[in-house]
Amino acid sequence: MTMSLQNRSVVIFGGTSGIGLAAAKQAKEAGARVTVIGFDAAGAQRVANENGFSGWRTADVTKPDTIGVALVDIARVDHLVLLAGTFVAGKVLDADVTYLRRAFDERIWAAVHALRALGDRLAADGSVTFISGVLGDRPNAAGTAVLAAASAAMEAFARGLALELSPRRFNTVSPGTTDTPLLARTLGNGREAYVAALTEKLPLHRLGTADEVGAAVVFLMSNDLMNGETLHVDGGARLI
Ligand SMILES: NC(=O)c1ccc[n+]([C@@H]2O[C@H](COP(=O)([O-])OP(=O)(O)OC[C@H]3O[C@@H](n4cnc5c(N)ncnc54)[C@H](OP(=O)(O)O)[C@@H]3O)[C@@H](O)[C@H]2O)c1
Repeated sequence: MTMSLQNRSVVIFGGTSGIGLAAAKQAKEAGARVTVIGFDAAGAQRVANENGFSGWRTADVTKPDTIGVALVDIARVDHLVLLAGTFVAGKVLDADVTYLRRAFDERIWAAVHALRALGDRLAADGSVTFISGVLGDRPNAAGTAVLAAASAAMEAFARGLALELSPRRFNTVSPGTTDTPLLARTLGNGREAYVAALTEKLPLHRLGTADEVGAAVVFLMSNDLMNGETLHVDGGARLI
């Protein structure tokens, strides 16, 4: 059954930009009370004001205490979305290990700390949505192995939690390369050439949009039968 988001409390880590912001806007459109959590306070406040979100918070998802502080005064969360993260790239034999660990800190460990901080305040009939990425299935270049592992781990973690924290539902959205501020920041001046080469190979010959991936996030939180699932929203990128 499709669960209405009307008046539901939706909290989105990473809801201040890109995919998370698109999901936040769509959840609000569906009637939810949305709280967005970002890293940058000025940006989070601006985005919340511009879009009429119910609240905004800041956290550094690599720092457990800040996750707890961000959630401390939220009485009940119906749908938790964990999308905060960066593109962690580096070769296993060369890159700084503390930096590489970030791929897991931003994803697995941030989720562990958010769930522990919320405890019973996460509604029993609610949901949690994670993000992974096409890399989890198909690491596509040297330097992506750790991020690929962290992405695949999120999908396995969601399946395990669907049993451990039942009847709450746990799902993962797996996007392909999506046109967001993260992509622009990561690629810098090389963006145009990278996108041209990639889109030539992709079955749809284009990148995904934040709105398309955000819609998948909202689908997973509002469809009451989706549980332990990974929803690929990649235009067929896994096929090449
Ligand atoms: N775009 C893609 O192609 C793609 C593909 C696969 C997976 N993903 C994953 O999807 C997620 C969202 O990506 P996006 O492309 O939408 O990126 P984005 O536009 O850069 O948004 C990232 C969001 O995460 C927040 N954030 C980043 N680091 C944080 C930290 N340490 N603590 C708290 N919040 C933090 C940002 O807050 P501020 O704005 O305040 O910094 C922002 O709200 C990421 O986990 C990314 O790895 C993206």
